[in-house]
Amino acid sequence: MSQVRENWSARSGFIFAAVGSAVGLGNIWRFPYVAYENGGGAFLLPYLIALLTAGLPLLFLDYIVGHRYRRSPPLAYQQITPKAETLGWWQVMVCLFIGMYYASVLAWAASYVYFSFGQKWQGNPEQFFMQDYLQSNGGSSLSFEIIPHLFFPILGMWVLVLLILYLGVKRGVELSNKIFIPLLIVLFMILVVQAVRLPGAVQGLNAFFTPNWQAMTDYKVWLAAYGHIFFSLSVGFGIMVTYASYLGKKSNLTGAGLVVGLANSSFEILAGIGVFSALGFMAHAQGVPVKEVVSGGIGLAFIAFPQLISSLGSSGDWFGFLFFSCLVVAGVTSLVSVMQVPISAFQDKTGCSRQKAVLGIGGGTALLSILLFSTANAITLVDIIDHFINNIGIVLGALLSITLVTWLMRSKLDDYTRHSNQISSIKLGKVWQLLLTIVTPLSLLITLGLTLNGLLGSGYGNYPGWLVMIFGWGSVLCCLIGAFLLKHLLPVQKPVQPAQDEPQIQTGEQP
Ligand code: PFF
Repeated sequence: MSQVRENWSARSGFIFAAVGSAVGLGNIWRFPYVAYENGGGAFLLPYLIALLTAGLPLLFLDYIVGHRYRRSPPLAYQQITPKAETLGWWQVMVCLFIGMYYASVLAWAASYVYFSFGQKWQGNPEQFFMQDYLQSNGGSSLSFEIIPHLFFPILGMWVLVLLILYLGVKRGVELSNKIFIPLLIVLFMILVVQAVRLPGAVQGLNAFFTPNWQAMTDYKVWLAAYGHIFFSLSVGFGIMVTYASYLGKKSNLTGAGLVVGLANSSFEILAGIGVFSALGFMAHAQGVPVKEVVSGGIGLAFIAFPQLISSLGSSGDWFGFLFFSCLVVAGVTSLVSVMQVPISAFQDKTGCSRQKAVLGIGGGTALLSILLFSTANAITLVDIIDHFINNIGIVLGALLSITLVTWLMRSKLDDYTRHSNQISSIKLGKVWQLLLTIVTPLSLLITLGLTLNGLLGSGYGNYPGWLVMIFGWGSVLCCLIGAFLLKHLLPVQKPVQPAQDEPQIQTGEQP
């Protein structure tokens, strides 16, 4: 059964969806912390350079590959060279793992929207989060008992996300992003305006923006900038290839990329202003320097923010509502994007309908995710899997996909440059090729080397070795085995037509 590929209704649909994917939990809880730790105001320079020399070039490449072959990663890479299909399935596996734990974190955030009213943590957010809510034992043993108050929110999250995916690219993904992104901007603006008006906000902003120029001589700061930008833009793990595969033939690829990159960075900086104003207020309320209250990630969202909300008295309820709603809204659009990759890949390869792929692949992933993350192990598994999948899974996939094009199949690069230049406003040339050939892969390679060195040398966190082995290295191994199995075992319904050498963009055909 041959199916007509779905399309975005307009370029704006694609841009909304790409922004929705890029703007996620990372922007809100990761960027402010990484920036602060790496030179504050001075970090903005390495960050900008990383964006221009690695983030955007790779974003453009992802767009071109997706648009050129009009397939999700496995079959897109397969058309570059048949062996590379496995790499595409590796990215699919990585996306499945991300989807599994990301849904769990979003379910916590959704629960905290509710907990904010009446501030259910009652003055002790840490104890409430770790013990009362998650019932964590710190990873000392495994538990298989389902905890109902974790089960229902994560179930709800999956129902919402699968429903959006079930409705398809136009009526589901595009429409939900067109609703959620403006909603996120409005909610986040209100939050930031409230935050900067809090007493002590200025100290927080000073801590965030005061440049430590010395930091720029430290190579770790540069690595942090490069490491952050790939995750932040959602590049290199198949999402942007997939989203671009639904673009019409005459699409301004680089123009769209620039809009998405700028929107994402603006949101990050805005988040930095909001989060650090709030931390400044907290330091002020506790009479301590800002550096003593700074945190990022799960600790910032579920422990520091509830503390701050409590310091605001009863008006804190609304502040909490806004903050956690922003996390949910920003995260849902990212989760949709990450799940679109496997769904699209299965459709492409087997020729099955979208509905079947959503129910089968989406439903199966949801089931696993619900079973694993409705237990007392949730936070331990989120922490370990997130670390390994982000730092090895994504980075390795990105590195290999670039190496494929810039080193192994180098002749393609001129072809891609021509492809993009025929339809895009910002023209690519030798500079883009050089950045992709040297700067981007090198930054990924060094990041990966340092991560592996750290993990092999000193393990991860304070968890027992067997736990890290099973869920950390085990996840990476699962991705590898899964990639090979999917490449070789999936039934192919219809032989894939190789993409024509040049797309027929001259016809002016629009979706
Ligand atoms: N760009 C996203 C972020 O900054 O949070 C990264 C991401 C994470 C995208 C998880 C998709 C996803 F499921």
